[in-house]
Amino acid sequence: MLGMNIGIDLGTTSVIAYVEGKGIVLSEPSVVAYRNDNGKVIAMGKAACKMIGRDPDSITVVRPMKDGVVSDFTVAEQMLRFYIKKICGNKIFKPNIIVSMPGTVTNLERRTILDVITASGAGRACLLEEPLAAAIGSGIEISQPSGVMIIDMGGGTTDIAVITMGTMAVANSVKVAGNLLNDSIVRYLRRERDIIVGELTAEEIKKKVGCAYLRQEEVVMVAKGKDYFTGMPIDFEITSTETYLAMREYINQILEAVQGVFEKTPPELVSDILQEGIVLTGGTALLYGMDKVISELTGVDVRIADDPLNCVANGIGKVLGDLFFLSENGYLFKSRQDISFVEEDKREDF
Ligand SMILES: Nc1ncnc2c1ncn2[C@@H]1O[C@H](COP(=O)(O)OP(=O)(O)OP(=O)(O)O)[C@@H](O)[C@H]1O
Ligand SMILES: [Mg+2]
Repeated sequence: MLGMNIGIDLGTTSVIAYVEGKGIVLSEPSVVAYRNDNGKVIAMGKAACKMIGRDPDSITVVRPMKDGVVSDFTVAEQMLRFYIKKICGNKIFKPNIIVSMPGTVTNLERRTILDVITASGAGRACLLEEPLAAAIGSGIEISQPSGVMIIDMGGGTTDIAVITMGTMAVANSVKVAGNLLNDSIVRYLRRERDIIVGELTAEEIKKKVGCAYLRQEEVVMVAKGKDYFTGMPIDFEITSTETYLAMREYINQILEAVQGVFEKTPPELVSDILQEGIVLTGGTALLYGMDKVISELTGVDVRIADDPLNCVANGIGKVLGDLFFLSENGYLFKSRQDISFVEEDKREDF
């Protein structure tokens, strides 16, 4: 195939691009800022991320991906077009792009992701399930017949999958991950402490003192917020235990989803998992104690993959160099024409 081969982890929180032969060439928050009057994009990625919670009425800051799927087509297209152009420069041939998607997406969501990629400048596009990519990126030999469990915990979704012989035997995807954990800290502070904080502060608190499992020695940090009643700026202390209480409900929802996958997994594969352990990938895998709560629930060893934030992109990268794997497993590159055909095809389903 002519044109560069590019792998993109189009995440709810960040976009990571991998170019065949080069490795990861781009890692930017999936955030776009545009002017309301003329719709013109004024910032993207890191620059737009700094504007979250600070945007005046004339500017809107959005995340075009929500829960792992496209929530704002036009903005997602503009964002991808910008990044693809940045990567490809003035190359004549359009690139072939493989993009990851959550393990359980509807046909319509699948088509929308494909559509957005080809509209953004890809010659041909192909989709790969995030848990498979995460497993490959974390170094698991996925074609082996014994089963492994991978839990990819990102910003919008937690994808749980049991993988054997190169495919997902059982999978579940829940819309509970890092973003909702941030929200839960914002709501806790408002409810219990009458303090208002923004999303970025909540995220900083989560990363510094947050925990999914009560820490033996409590840690404390000082953060900045606003007093709910006076509206005045304040410095306040927040403890790890408070973050635990704030996030507990969502952590439990993730644990229930893991349990649900175990319930659906055939016994032979369960015994494989018991032997092989569970691998965690994605940014939320780094939350203190996440591995421990999952291990306590399941009784299985849990390890956090090396470089968990880049596992999906690295996994797609490995597949880019092995297009034979894709064709052997039924993953096909599609052009714009092929996708419009899919659209007509799908209409009969409704
Ligand atoms: N050290 C850390 N502790 C806790 N959470 C973290 C840490 N580092 C990153 N995160 C969280 O990880 C999330 C981002 O992870 P990741 O980049 O894997 O998501 P994504 O791939 O963009 O999202 P998705 O896969 O859901 O579409 C954010 O919610 C971020 O707050
Ligand atoms: Mg992800």
